[in-house]
Amino acid sequence: MKPGDVELLARILEYESSHDQKQEWPLGWNWEQVRVQPATLNRLVIDGCLEVVFHSNSYKGYRLSERGKLLAIQGEPQPEIEQDSGPVSWPEDVFGDIIGHDEVKELLRAAVTAERPVHVLLAGPPALAKSLFLWGLERVAGSRALWLMGSASSKAGLWDLAAERRPRLLLVDELDKMAAVDTAALLSLMEGGRLVRAKVGRRLEEQLDLRVVAATNNLRVLAPELLSRFAVRRLQPYQRQEFRQVVVGVLVRREGVAPEVAEQVAALLDGVSQDVRDAVRVARLAPQVGVEKAVALLGLGASSPSAAA
Ligand SMILES: Nc1ncnc2c1ncn2[C@@H]1O[C@H](COP(=O)(O)OP(=O)(O)O)[C@@H](O)[C@H]1O
Ligand SMILES: [Mg+2]
Repeated sequence: MKPGDVELLARILEYESSHDQKQEWPLGWNWEQVRVQPATLNRLVIDGCLEVVFHSNSYKGYRLSERGKLLAIQGEPQPEIEQDSGPVSWPEDVFGDIIGHDEVKELLRAAVTAERPVHVLLAGPPALAKSLFLWGLERVAGSRALWLMGSASSKAGLWDLAAERRPRLLLVDELDKMAAVDTAALLSLMEGGRLVRAKVGRRLEEQLDLRVVAATNNLRVLAPELLSRFAVRRLQPYQRQEFRQVVVGVLVRREGVAPEVAEQVAALLDGVSQDVRDAVRVARLAPQVGVEKAVALLGLGASSPSAAA
């Protein structure tokens, strides 16, 4: 079968249905009647979509076979991808680049490897490594993970993506920004992994073994029926000691900053900022203007107006 064949068959079916075949062409219709090149018709005969009813030197008559009619109505059956539903293996360094958050790490490990699904929603203010957790899970699950950005997911359509990719693990970042149509799909998928697909001429219903891990900055905008499907794990802003640890870790490991400079940045932001991204910005400007000046320029100094906030 080639692209366009199904449309062609549908056209022929329409032609056949609008004529009384036995009366009008007992020997089958010919290529001029349906306006399809004989070469194409013969290919469809070989594919089993058409039958040759009559063949002489001057006339070759065709009609649709049962298979041809079925294809015209239903389209080509999509190859079914088997869902890979074996357990997800769990290497030790899944969250190796995340400092602290030990209980969250444990929770996610248990949820993702559990026999029956437990869906987890990480909630809390920005820069608490929520996205980092989702990235870690994506690395573990590889091709069995489907990653969705709430703010962008409507373009692809969760429904179609899930049907096509049959993920084991669905990762949704920025859940609060997800389009309503995708939220509806998500609700159904989370309830027993039910996947309903409307296909031409039939309805498919199937079961997916799916676990969802999502992240959000905002819980208040989420519908109660969605929230109740999740184990909601709230991440609290870092305590001062934790914040210093995370800052030093991120600056040294991820930003390649010298440890003593990282310590200096952490000390200057201690009690002033709770956002690791502030520290990263300071560290990136520091080579140009020095650490203290960078802190001041970004309005993060202990005596600057924004520090009180
Ligand atoms: N506990 C942590 N361990 C490692 N990096 C962290 C941690 N907390 C925050 N970060 C850093 O902060 C930045 C923001 O993290 P991200 O996962 O995007 O946060 P969120 O999704 O919660 O807004 C990341 O680039 C990361 O380097
Ligand atoms: Mg994020």
